[in-house]
Amino acid sequence: MLFYLQINLVFSFFMLIETMDNQVHNMILLLFFLYEAESLQLPLVPPYISEEGVHVAGFEHGINYAVAGATAMSSHLLAEEGIHDLVTNASLEVQLRWFKQSLPLICGIASGNAIFIVEIGHSLILVGEIGGNDYYDLIRGGKSIDEIKSLVPLVVKTIVSTINELIGIGAQTLIVPGVLPLGCSADHLTIAQGSKNEEYDPTTSCLLWLNQLAEYHNQLLQKELNHIRELHSNVNIIYADYYNATMQIYRFPYKYGFINESLKTCCGGGGPFNYNSTATCGDEYATVCDEPYTYVNWDGVHFTEAAYKVIFEGLFQGPYTTPAFKSLCPLSSHVRIGISSSS
Ligand SMILES: *[C@@H]1O[C@H](CO)[C@@H](O)[C@H](O)[C@H]1NC(C)=O
Ligand SMILES: *[C@@H]1O[C@H](CO)[C@@H](O)[C@H](O)[C@H]1NC(C)=O
Ligand SMILES: *[C@@H]1O[C@H](CO)[C@@H](O)[C@H](O)[C@H]1NC(C)=O
Ligand SMILES: *[C@@H]1O[C@H](CO)[C@@H](O)[C@H](O)[C@H]1NC(C)=O
Repeated sequence: MLFYLQINLVFSFFMLIETMDNQVHNMILLLFFLYEAESLQLPLVPPYISEEGVHVAGFEHGINYAVAGATAMSSHLLAEEGIHDLVTNASLEVQLRWFKQSLPLICGIASGNAIFIVEIGHSLILVGEIGGNDYYDLIRGGKSIDEIKSLVPLVVKTIVSTINELIGIGAQTLIVPGVLPLGCSADHLTIAQGSKNEEYDPTTSCLLWLNQLAEYHNQLLQKELNHIRELHSNVNIIYADYYNATMQIYRFPYKYGFINESLKTCCGGGGPFNYNSTATCGDEYATVCDEPYTYVNWDGVHFTEAAYKVIFEGLFQGPYTTPAFKSLCPLSSHVRIGISSSS
């Protein structure tokens, strides 16, 4: 299997962002660029729509369609489940529409379908991490564990149909991340405050049912990815195991230098996890720890840079992608990747 990173200068990043893991994509990708790609002279990926709602120019190296708080399921599907007050309605469906709209920008205004297919085929497309916000919204909306679990297949189906559409447009290399350990994040832990002792993992103190939910989502997703691989032997689907890449930190925080609390935020407005939804990081009542690199959690929904570094290394240099990223694309060797020589 060949990873086409080196062949083309167009990198279309389908980055789907949410409150919880917004930065995860960003940062993992940022780190990806800063660590490996900086030396490869890869640029950062600009967002498709700016804060003012206008389309940003300069897409020759890729586009970021991610929106903070975005869900996989569309806002009308979630509304059917009784979930209304979403952070954004820019679900996968909406982002896929943007992606299609932007094809002329990526490929040149005048180019036709054949050019699109070639360009998209030479692009690396990151689909996710997405799904975490769907679950977050359902939890906030007061859904029971069983109700949320019953929606997992629907969330996965939405992701899978997006991947299939992308393949239909010509996508050949996709990275599809699983969801994070939902039961370890300070915002979830704060919502679920006062749960019974037996609901927490004795080793990590993360909420068991939420982590089991994440595992269930990831298992279903991987099963579906295998199915897509069988149907499209010419397409490279790389599963990025954000869950295990992150769990190694919660299981062995000291090993990675996280000598302060691994579940409490560095920056926040108080409470047992130093996460206060009415006084979040940046608020005048919030405080910041002295040594962020001793913390895993930055602000309740994002990791610290030190934690992102560990996650990044686990994914792109370690064992947490399937197939292993290292085996596809020897990142340590600029020459073999050849991005600078092909530019
Ligand atoms: C999504 O939200 C935007 C801004 O709030 C609004 O203009 C748009 O009509 C909404 N789209 C849908 C499909 O609900
Ligand atoms: C990842 O986590 C799942 C669920 O805990 C486990 O079944 C699987 O073996 C793990 N995989 C790796 C590579 O650690
Ligand atoms: C959360 O922040 C508000 C101020 O916005 C404060 O009144 C409240 O006491 C804080 N809660 C906790 C648990 O610290
Ligand atoms: C742990 O966090 C506290 C509070 O932010 C900070 O003062 C202290 O320096 C940290 N401990 C270490 C060993 O870094």
